[in-house]
Amino acid sequence: MGIQFFIGGTGQGKTTMAQHLCTERSAVRGVPVIVLDPEGVLSHKGAEVARNFPPSDAIVRAVWDHGYDLVYTPRGEEDDPEGEDVKKLFRMVRQGGNVGLLVDECAHFAAADSPAIKAMRHLCRAHRLQGVDLYFTTQAPKDIHPRIWNLRHEVYVFNQEDSGSLDYLQKQLRMTEKERNRVASLPPYRFLKWEKRSNATEGQEEA
Ligand SMILES: Nc1ncnc2c1ncn2[C@@H]1O[C@H](COP(=O)(O)OP(=O)(O)OP(=O)(O)O)[C@@H](O)[C@H]1O
Ligand SMILES: [Mg+2]
Repeated sequence: MGIQFFIGGTGQGKTTMAQHLCTERSAVRGVPVIVLDPEGVLSHKGAEVARNFPPSDAIVRAVWDHGYDLVYTPRGEEDDPEGEDVKKLFRMVRQGGNVGLLVDECAHFAAADSPAIKAMRHLCRAHRLQGVDLYFTTQAPKDIHPRIWNLRHEVYVFNQEDSGSLDYLQKQLRMTEKERNRVASLPPYRFLKWEKRSNATEGQEEA
């Protein structure tokens, strides 16, 4: 169980990789997959698709009741300025537990000024206990709320042109110059992966 980030420039394969891993690991665990697709562009083999209406019990609860996968697109800002759809979905995921959740373009929900940020943080804090595996894609790592970013387990870094994002990642992930240069010259669909080290450090008894 963990929080995984897939970060990089457009078209580098973030969503494809995140979806692949989410699908594979969820299958191993025997849990369903929910794809949160804010832009309404993704498909997922064999999944139910629900777009542009609130997450009704009939469609979302059935993920747990019947074990099917779901692609969900919440209503846009115009019809749902307070992000009620996503808040409700996050609450249902938290309560339902045992699911793989891919949040594509996660900055929509994980940025400090997003209306859904509280629900998002709540879900991230509860994910381990509830058996929720989280997969977040973004082009803009700086937009992710630090309290969410700090809970990460794995970061998959794809090529990106934006040097500001690269600077940020270099600092956050303690990349060496060599690693930074490798990231900057990655071909499409390739990534470097960082795993969060455990907080335990080697120590010595004081004399
Ligand atoms: N390993 C791969 N081999 C071949 N094609 C791939 C691979 N991974 C992704 N693609 C293709 O490349 C295109 C871009 O991939 P994807 O949508 O996953 O990128 P992305 O980083 O999520 O981009 P965006 O930021 O625009 O969402 C898609 O058409 C996808 O099918
Ligand atoms: Mg994508």
